[in-house]
Amino acid sequence: MSDFKRLYVEALLAANWEAPDWQQLEKTKEGEWLLERHSMTERLKACCSTLTVEVLGLHEVGKEVLSDNERDLLGDQACLVREVVLSGDDVPWLCARTLVPMSTLTEREQDIADLGAVPLGQRVFNQANARRDAIEVAHVVCEGQALLARRSRLWVNDKPMLVSELFLPHAPIYQEEG
Ligand code: PHB
Repeated sequence: MSDFKRLYVEALLAANWEAPDWQQLEKTKEGEWLLERHSMTERLKACCSTLTVEVLGLHEVGKEVLSDNERDLLGDQACLVREVVLSGDDVPWLCARTLVPMSTLTEREQDIADLGAVPLGQRVFNQANARRDAIEVAHVVCEGQALLARRSRLWVNDKPMLVSELFLPHAPIYQEEG
């Protein structure tokens, strides 16, 4: 992984997640992105011709590695960690790190471990019962740049995963139109 991509993953790990101020944020363009309850992949796809996913890492972590907060949101579970960068027309837009409890990777959800370059949202929101809750936001400084991030819990067939997303400097969230 290139140094700059590793920096983004580390910035996500260090983020200080906070409950959003819904009333204030809902009125802003950033808020439309940060508070999106449906598929972020769909929203990004609408802003480019080709959206690509590069998998930076895929590994398992024991339940002792989870923070108290992650444990509250996911349960006391060993997890698969998926780290990706999404690019719109070859420009890196989003770095995402997802914790998928092993108990989520069962039955019809086993394929989530093998998504490769298929975006997670495309797979999850294919299912009518997919939903998102526990949205939190963070301001992250990375390489001297102030960036926006969010963390949210996705449910598929009533099984959770925790998705952290860092909007990279050229992401549409920061652009006038988008
Ligand atoms: C992923 O494929 O892991 C992924 C894609 C889009 C997101 C988050 C995660 O917004």
